Amino acid sequence: MNLLTQVLHLVGSGAIAYITARNLRDRRTRPALLAGFQLAESGSVPFLEALSQRAASEGDAWLAEKLAQHAEDERRHGQIFAHALKQLNKQVIDFKATQERAMQDKQREGQATDRRRSPFFDAYYKGYSREDLAPDRIDWIVFFASTHILELDAHKDFIHMANTLPDTDAASLNLKKGLLSIAQDEQGHAAYLLEAMERCLPYAEVITLVDDWRTRKVDALLAMVNRLLEKGGKFPSMARDGIPTEMSDAIDERSEEQPRLVTA
Ligand SMILES: [Fe+2]
Ligand SMILES: [Fe+2]
Repeated sequence: MNLLTQVLHLVGSGAIAYITARNLRDRRTRPALLAGFQLAESGSVPFLEALSQRAASEGDAWLAEKLAQHAEDERRHGQIFAHALKQLNKQVIDFKATQERAMQDKQREGQATDRRRSPFFDAYYKGYSREDLAPDRIDWIVFFASTHILELDAHKDFIHMANTLPDTDAASLNLKKGLLSIAQDEQGHAAYLLEAMERCLPYAEVITLVDDWRTRKVDALLAMVNRLLEKGGKFPSMARDGIPTEMSDAIDERSEEQPRLVTA
């Protein structure tokens, strides 16, 4: 990673952290953000479970077990956000129903409809088609490296978010505790994914790969920041069946079909 990428990474991360913290502190915008996280976390479970089964069928018991634990952790993260939404008296999103609705929409619109992809997702996985990223097809190294970066950043982001919450009410205190425990899991995910790369590749290649995906993340972050700034830094509000679009564009993409590539 060159110096410019490093600087842009900090600027991009800083902007996202600022916008996220602002939306989390403001009780009016907090539900939309929590709903986005709930969907992102729960949405990753089927993908990780499918990968775990694939690893098992390929004879890699170590990886299969790590992925199964990863899926279990993400399920728990989704539940933490669902609980936080409940504490704000907001309806928890039914992930299954959301998936089914997306499938119905797709059938209505016709299979040929190519829905707009999120700028983040597009930039991060530039050069890879949806099919390339399906759990039965994805290149293991691409999965390890891209997810390692996302998990590493999620670890830092969740700690930052926890620290911006006020200590004044039970809901905020509870959420803070939940965010810190999620952050710890994300660190564990980043670590096993790095180890998974080191099992396949020489150390120097691992470093190069991690660098490449860091650069992709910077580009993707800037694309997302641009979009958020265009919208005045506001996450769209949560309707009953609504999903905050920016947080969930990638999820929306994924939820149309069964397991999809996911973030932390
Ligand atoms: Fe997570
Ligand atoms: Fe994670």
